[in-house]
Amino acid sequence: MTDYKAVKDLSGDMAKDELTRLADLLNKANKAYHGNDSPIMTDAEYDFLKKRNLEIELEFPQYKKSDSPTEKIGSAPKETFSKIKHSRKMFSLANAFDSKDLFDFDEQIRRFLNFKQSQSLIYTVEPKIDGLSLSLRYEKGELVFAATRGDGTTGENVTANALQISDIPVELPTKMDILEVRGEVYMEHKDFQILNESQVSLGKKEFANPRNAAAGSLRQLDSTITAERPLKFMAYAWGELTEPLDISQFGALKILKNLGFKTNIHTRLCKNINEALIHYEELAKIRAELGYDIDGIVYKVDLLDLQARLGYRSTTPRWAIAHKFPAEYSWTKLLSIDVQVGRTGALSPVARLKPVTVGGVVVSNATLHNQDYIAGRDNSGKEIRSGKDIRINDWVEVYRAGDVIPKISDVDVARRQKNSIAYRFPSICPECGSDVARDDGDAVVRCIAGINCQAQAIEKLKHFVSRKAFDIEGLGSKQIEYFFDDNTLSIKEPADIFTLKLRDQNNFTKLKDRHGFGSKSVSNLFDAIEMKKTIEFSRFLFSLGIRHVGENVSKLLARHFISWSKFMQSISIAQSKDSQEYFDLVAIDGIGITVVTSLLSTFKVGKERDSIEKLADHLNILEEIHEESEINFFSGKTLVFTGTLDQMSRSEAKTLAESLGAKVTGSVSAKTDLVIAGPGAGSKIKKAKELGVKTLDETEWLNLIGK
Ligand code: IVH
Repeated sequence: MTDYKAVKDLSGDMAKDELTRLADLLNKANKAYHGNDSPIMTDAEYDFLKKRNLEIELEFPQYKKSDSPTEKIGSAPKETFSKIKHSRKMFSLANAFDSKDLFDFDEQIRRFLNFKQSQSLIYTVEPKIDGLSLSLRYEKGELVFAATRGDGTTGENVTANALQISDIPVELPTKMDILEVRGEVYMEHKDFQILNESQVSLGKKEFANPRNAAAGSLRQLDSTITAERPLKFMAYAWGELTEPLDISQFGALKILKNLGFKTNIHTRLCKNINEALIHYEELAKIRAELGYDIDGIVYKVDLLDLQARLGYRSTTPRWAIAHKFPAEYSWTKLLSIDVQVGRTGALSPVARLKPVTVGGVVVSNATLHNQDYIAGRDNSGKEIRSGKDIRINDWVEVYRAGDVIPKISDVDVARRQKNSIAYRFPSICPECGSDVARDDGDAVVRCIAGINCQAQAIEKLKHFVSRKAFDIEGLGSKQIEYFFDDNTLSIKEPADIFTLKLRDQNNFTKLKDRHGFGSKSVSNLFDAIEMKKTIEFSRFLFSLGIRHVGENVSKLLARHFISWSKFMQSISIAQSKDSQEYFDLVAIDGIGITVVTSLLSTFKVGKERDSIEKLADHLNILEEIHEESEINFFSGKTLVFTGTLDQMSRSEAKTLAESLGAKVTGSVSAKTDLVIAGPGAGSKIKKAKELGVKTLDETEWLNLIGK
């Protein structure tokens, strides 16, 4: 068989050529097979080429052919949407809940940019429509595809449905090579009401709110259904562009409007954060009259060069924030308290409530956070709700702000039953009966059984297959629960997922013959599992569900160690706290002692480590590539910033260095390549000199990065 280059190493042109060749070959093979001709290749070759084609399409969605074999092969009806990798990630927004959060936001930006209070910082202020975001890709003015946000990196191809929305132009009066327009798909109140009335008359389920109705309508596999749903679209952002739209957010929105997109008429340019806040208050007043739901206001730094300097955190931009409208409250009765056990063993109490409407949504569950919260204390032991505890059968006040899980804000002690008793938090794991423990300074009580606790094992598996983790099509939470206790095909740990096919082959009764499965869905499932055997290192780390190792930390670790084998090697040695490896681990910027302790305990010799190693044996864990950067002077170098910088803040310098592929650490060691020292640098520069590490001043650093 031909020697295939790794997809990540293909250039755009190579990908394009190969997709054309594969389409040709696969279509021929398909015809030969279905036309009952003699097949021109073996099934294994066919599967390999199909997989390769899909991998290239995911990496280079812009070259996906309109007659892509992925869409056609087998001409089976579509069970799911195809996936589209966003060429620029789709971010979400950080939230501000009050004016203090907002002033902090302005302050943080000024600090990052090294802006004085007197320097002007203009904001574009836009309503935050409560719908779902959509990315529209236009090439030379023609709509090529529409994709949902998905996990921010990969979304669903809903082009056929987007074409049914009259606000979405199919052609634009521009010949720009690439223009990706992003905005919100939503439903107006009046249309929502009509839709729900018709749902009722057809005996179908009503939608809970316009956002659910919009999401349900856009994600229809049959686009004739979408066509009947009155969806709207408003533009507020963009993705990949071959030419800049303007120099400001406000200006860019005007351009989008001129191109034929609807933009929000309540958008204002505000000359400072105070003015922005005034506009928020004005919008809060007219919110009910808008005719569609908004759940807050978005503030965006107006100048696009400042947006570029500020850049992004892992999931949110530094240059924008959503100011949410105040929460809505209702009183109801607390019927019972259930304690759930999460993947890290945390015992989380959940309030089961007499259903009540809170701001238009029916609520029957609320989080009770932890033992202390029920008892009337916060994480630091201070009184909350004037020290009132929460008891079963109490009347409680429930609130919800935006999408967050409802919470309990107050309890009415006057209505408490006379014989009520204080709630007793479980002293053993309610799932497996093992002992529970509470660390010093931690409000959370945990089951100590780890993966020996069935509830933890299931939750870990659910996390493992979740969207930001392995994201295996056809294997979600429901299927995990189904397989967990299965007699012949049990999935007790992640490695079991990758032996499922083989085990099924060896079984007398096959999965495809079981109720709820069919040969198509089973072969799709096995294909989806096969596809995910190749995985990025950071995603793999995140999938393990290690406490304190979220997406961001996983990325930091993966970028530092580059490969899984290097990581495993170092972590084994780092078990000894006086090793260099331990020292290096704690020195990674952004990785604190809490993360390190959690990693060391997961990877110490034992059942958990064995389970991870067994899993890794089934996989091809890719080396971490720093996508944004091309090879340059800073690639792979380890930098330390010390002292004060004049032209930019330390945070901006660090972000810049990282975007160039460098690692930034907090302390100087033999592994440091470069120290950038501003005035006031002390011991670090001394240490650098002792170790012979090169040092630069701020001007030299700015020259090197071309600023
Ligand atoms: S800007 C990088 N602007 O809110 C910028 N988002 O919580 C990302 N949304 O996923 C988004 N109105 O679905 C932006 N005027 C607006 C918005 C808006 C609604 C939604 C969008 C996004 C979510 C983030």
